[in-house]
Amino acid sequence: MDIRALGYLGLKSPKAEEWTRWGEEVMGFGTDDPTPESSALEGASPRVKDAVYLRMDDRKWRIAVYPGERDEIAFVGWELADRIAFKDALKHLDEKKIPYSVANEYQALERGVQGMAAFYDPVGFRHEIYYSQYYLENSFKPGRLPMKKGFRVGNLGIGHVVLMVPELTDELDEFATEVLGMRVFAGGTSIKVSGGDGGRLRTEMYRGRNNLRSHNLVYMEKAGYFGLHHVFIEYDDLDDLGRAYDLVKKNKQYPMIMTLGRHQADTFLSFYSSTPSGFAFEIAWNSMLINDQEFVQGRPLHSFVWGLDMVGPVVMDHLKISNFNPPPQSNPNSVPEMLDAAE
Ligand SMILES: [Fe+2]
Repeated sequence: MDIRALGYLGLKSPKAEEWTRWGEEVMGFGTDDPTPESSALEGASPRVKDAVYLRMDDRKWRIAVYPGERDEIAFVGWELADRIAFKDALKHLDEKKIPYSVANEYQALERGVQGMAAFYDPVGFRHEIYYSQYYLENSFKPGRLPMKKGFRVGNLGIGHVVLMVPELTDELDEFATEVLGMRVFAGGTSIKVSGGDGGRLRTEMYRGRNNLRSHNLVYMEKAGYFGLHHVFIEYDDLDDLGRAYDLVKKNKQYPMIMTLGRHQADTFLSFYSSTPSGFAFEIAWNSMLINDQEFVQGRPLHSFVWGLDMVGPVVMDHLKISNFNPPPQSNPNSVPEMLDAAE
């Protein structure tokens, strides 16, 4: 499967409307529907009632927050090169005996794409593959000003998503590499940090072949936990990152978790903020782009060059399995539930 980018992301939250306010005022996401009156779409652009669709560039939307009883990730949307890559991906899922549902036109439109299919990983996270995302040139309007260049997205996609699992199994590794067809950027057990619970975590960072970003999907092992840990987003200009940093610093409701600093594996600058849904946003600038012909996996002896001090609580209580029932492992013989977000 030739995944080119993390193209969109779906969340469920009891605070969907809070996402509009915080998303616009702090992050600078757009919240409008760019679809013009006369457009490539036959009818109206379908939207789920009371959902919030956040924009980061000229694409229709990038992060959707649907009303839900608890904060959780609804789906991860993987971008494929084109319609043929989509056809090939479905053939590949058949060969791997992974049950999937193909979206009808209406359901795909709600996602803002021309074609989409959904399936589940071995622990129950929903993955969607799609081709051809709708966009309107020069239509991105940031939710706050000033904004110099906005987000670094486009064909690079949003960034990466980190999913917590109670155990990193071979089955999960095979799903990422054999089913999604990804390669590995980095992996191993983290270095003990001061602050937080100081615990060491094992992660595997995967990257789509032919994807310029260093990693797109991370499974992070923590016994007793399940769910979305953080989402990486990136600004195109250091000043836009700096302005977001100032706003997060002042924000008492959704405080900073880690200060600005430079990582070693991928050498971008980033800091971490809490969000209305409990998981974190890693907010970055200047991430590296990878040339597959030259890349080799390495392991820095330390995670950080400077900064990245833990200053806020990483409250992940909503991800404790003892607090909810995580989705059951997908049964390879069962057909996944039909798409639930489009109404
Ligand atoms: Fe990250």
